[in-house]
Amino acid sequence: MVTGGAGFIGSHIVDALIAKGHTPIVVDDLSSGRKENLPAGMPLYVVDICNKAALQEVFEKEKPDLVCHQAAQMSVSLSVKQPSFDAQINILGLLHTLELAQEYQVQKFVFASSGGVLYGNVTQPVAEDYPANPISPYGISKWAGERYLQFFSQEHGLKTVAMRYANVFGPRQNPHGEAGVVAIFCQRMLRGEQTKINGDGKYIRDYVYVEDVARANVLALLEDAPQIHSAFNVGTGRPTDVNELAAQLQSLSEKAIQESGRSINVPTPEHGPARAGDLRSNLIDASRLQKLWGWSPQVTLEDGLDLAAKWFAKDEFGG
Ligand SMILES: NC(=O)c1ccc[n+]([C@@H]2O[C@H](COP(=O)([O-])OP(=O)(O)OC[C@H]3O[C@@H](n4cnc5c(N)ncnc54)[C@H](O)[C@@H]3O)[C@@H](O)[C@H]2O)c1
Repeated sequence: MVTGGAGFIGSHIVDALIAKGHTPIVVDDLSSGRKENLPAGMPLYVVDICNKAALQEVFEKEKPDLVCHQAAQMSVSLSVKQPSFDAQINILGLLHTLELAQEYQVQKFVFASSGGVLYGNVTQPVAEDYPANPISPYGISKWAGERYLQFFSQEHGLKTVAMRYANVFGPRQNPHGEAGVVAIFCQRMLRGEQTKINGDGKYIRDYVYVEDVARANVLALLEDAPQIHSAFNVGTGRPTDVNELAAQLQSLSEKAIQESGRSINVPTPEHGPARAGDLRSNLIDASRLQKLWGWSPQVTLEDGLDLAAKWFAKDEFGG
């Protein structure tokens, strides 16, 4: 069962599981996910994880052996404005899923956590033992989520894994959110709209391609871990600032527009005001994942941006 499986990362996990011969089912309320992200005929239960009775019906019918929990509200600013809304989905929704996983004797529960919000401002890639210090309600709910996983492992013997993603990017990312800078820039640039870089743009992030993240989730679901509960960083450790990213996306968008035969001018990104609370630098070290299961990122930033720009161009222009 992939919760949030019609979303950006979840749908790539679905693809990766199918490619390995598995038969995933998806639970998603389609609040930000899209049915079109899924292969035709894919079992999709349009269910809100906040509705435990409805979720239980899916567990009762499908009796999933593994759960990959991607469903979440993922807006940091919304979590700041409405902490209880965030907690409803990201804590209570998670707890419903965990309780049912325990009740239906699921073999393993994998959870989408976030390296970005747990470690805060760090100028060197940090490992999993770096102290967590979440400051937004979204970060607090992810950290609480990890602690609940640990509790279910210790108290009920449920095998759990928390995957702490860096900044994930690639095809199918939602350009309407606030976090997916690659998706937002791609869509605006392909439409010839003005893009805005927050502040001076010297914000260092660790960008990891979505298929690499999906592969890490499949390893976490299928391979044995030495501990009943573990946490893994999923990132590249490579620093990239927003100015560099925007410049690459501008030239890729211009190329895609040219290939589509259209004549759209891509305005050079402008600098706007800095966004309050944005971290200056965030990088994570994924050596633990590499040592245990041999995972390393396979898609470079350049190749990933190229793949993302091509996908957004196809989505925008068709063909
Ligand atoms: N994208 C990133 O860079 C990133 C970084 C760190 C962590 N994460 C985490 O990864 C997971 C997937 O994120 P994403 O980037 O694919 O975002 P997304 O919005 O594309 O995916 C989330 C999915 O969950 C579904 N969903 C939301 N609320 C739901 C509810 N109440 N019931 C059922 N389904 C619900 C949405 O419809 C969507 O399909 C999230 O848990 C997110 O917090 C993402």
